[in-house]
Amino acid sequence: MKHIFKEGLKSKPTFLLLHGTGGTEQDLLPLADIIDQEASVLSVRGNVSENGMPRFFKRLAEGVFDLEDLKFRTEELHNFIDKAAKDYGFDRENVIAIGYSNGANIAGSLLFHYSNVLKAAILHHPMVPIRNKELPDVSNVPVLITAGDNDPICPPQETNDLEKLLKEAGASIDVYWHSQGHQLTQDEAQAAKQWYEKLKGY
Ligand code: MLT
Repeated sequence: MKHIFKEGLKSKPTFLLLHGTGGTEQDLLPLADIIDQEASVLSVRGNVSENGMPRFFKRLAEGVFDLEDLKFRTEELHNFIDKAAKDYGFDRENVIAIGYSNGANIAGSLLFHYSNVLKAAILHHPMVPIRNKELPDVSNVPVLITAGDNDPICPPQETNDLEKLLKEAGASIDVYWHSQGHQLTQDEAQAAKQWYEKLKGY
């Protein structure tokens, strides 16, 4: 997969950056810098193109996902992280996903398909990736969800459902709300930074 890797301090995690629809692997680099400049970064471009807009998996309509493709792309991303850890020599056990919108959805899908896939996840404006699926055990995976009260793409019910499903699978969830729409705001970035700093004292 097309990507950027930036090596950080060995004592720090690797941030897996996953952009929104129409984005690229460049988009979330400033966010990673805000959260922890010393972390390594693996920033990936989605392999699917929707009318030229990169995405991480196909959709049939706005908010309606192609579940076969989602499963296939989730496995592809999972394999890519494993291979990148070997190629670049970062600790596979210490990968924190930071995703926005479509990127948050594939990060959520990683957690819906695999245990031990992420050390933690910061999901900005995610949806429930798949419904009626039994989740693997994601005990002790800390997850921050950030959401907007007035987000038309990801309505509050999606956030509440995702929180419930991940909690039932054992994850520890924090939710940060703002009163805006689907955009990723500065206060969300700061909330992500503060949340991250409380994880094991990074
Ligand atoms: C998706 O398709 O993943 C969600 O609708 C968010 C987005 O618009 O990318």
